[in-house]
Amino acid sequence: MTNTQNIQIQLVSRPTGEPTLDNFKLVEAAIPELGEGQVLIRNHYLSLDPYMRGRMNEGKSYAQPQPLNEVMMGGTVGEVVASKNAAFSVGDKVVGMGGWQQYFVVDANQRGVIQKVDTTHIPLSAYLGAVGMPGVTAWYGLVKIINPKAGETVVVSAASGAVGSCVGQLAKARGARAVGLAGGADKCRYVVEQLGFDACIDYKEHRDVKSLSAALKAACPDGIDGHFENVGGMILDAVMLRANAFSRVAMCGMISGYNGEPIPMSAPQLILVNRMKIEGFIVSEHMEVWPEALKELGGLVATGKLKFRESVAEGIAAAPEAFLGLLKGRNFGKQLVKLV
Ligand SMILES: NC(=O)c1ccc[n+]([C@@H]2O[C@H](COP(=O)([O-])OP(=O)(O)OC[C@H]3O[C@@H](n4cnc5c(N)ncnc54)[C@H](OP(=O)(O)O)[C@@H]3O)[C@@H](O)[C@H]2O)c1
Repeated sequence: MTNTQNIQIQLVSRPTGEPTLDNFKLVEAAIPELGEGQVLIRNHYLSLDPYMRGRMNEGKSYAQPQPLNEVMMGGTVGEVVASKNAAFSVGDKVVGMGGWQQYFVVDANQRGVIQKVDTTHIPLSAYLGAVGMPGVTAWYGLVKIINPKAGETVVVSAASGAVGSCVGQLAKARGARAVGLAGGADKCRYVVEQLGFDACIDYKEHRDVKSLSAALKAACPDGIDGHFENVGGMILDAVMLRANAFSRVAMCGMISGYNGEPIPMSAPQLILVNRMKIEGFIVSEHMEVWPEALKELGGLVATGKLKFRESVAEGIAAAPEAFLGLLKGRNFGKQLVKLV
């Protein structure tokens, strides 16, 4: 390890509404000397995730806010390049919370702070997507909340994305009908032709709830038994109009409101009328399911049965722009930043 310089992206101000490039700053920092038990990791990929928008706000939500003038927090995969910890060797591939920077040092004796991963059959980057946090998110909401029976219909919004793409494929593997909602014809074509969903609706073609709900009626002739919500707003309203009695909604994300847009629910009485179960969840609060979920997801990816797609920005300096794009749907699949 000859390089001693690290390039990082910090959050330097908090956005009101849409974030901008000015909220971020690229800084150089020295890589600290390793202490006993510590490991130095070179990040190969950074994960960009919608939850990061919530952390940019001041107030505490379910997660602590991102501190100002510190490296943006976030998931990473990389390689151990120096080690003073017997459990990790140079060359080990690891997943962790390395943040938006080229290198990071961790005390690897802290349990779970980094995990070794096997890249024999699974590409390293997939540990940030289908075989990582987004995949487990899809698995938890589908299996533990929606729990579809064969023949039931499951709808998922942001269907071409990191989470949504897994939801529909896991639903199909359980014999359910999978219907996606995504922005644009290209994404919808991919969801049906490559991911194997039964149908996908381009929500941008529908200006109001009535029109979107009519499209859902056509795509879901037997109604909707399970819905995996990633977006909120008009999409949720339209789904609720087509929900069957005793349907289940996994409330995973509401990205259409992340910049503070109001997203009222227009007909909450349908929860009662249809005896619906609506359950929000945070994947990191269900660590007990991760081994089971990752076993299924890893097996499916390794055997080519679970497909995924990545949008890859090149170089650390590209991270802020790629993150702004993610919040606008410019990504097509899991948004990553490639550093190596
Ligand atoms: N609860 C949890 O523990 C947990 C964990 C992980 C992720 N999540 C949530 O899961 C959702 C998906 O995350 P992801 O990582 O898989 O991201 P993603 O779906 O890969 O990317 C975000 C997508 O959201 C869609 N989108 C953005 N703004 C929108 C808007 N105003 N209206 C409609 N769609 C919009 C875009 O797709 P289109 O072009 O198709 O609109 C965009 O590509 C997010 O809501 C995220 O916060 C929750």
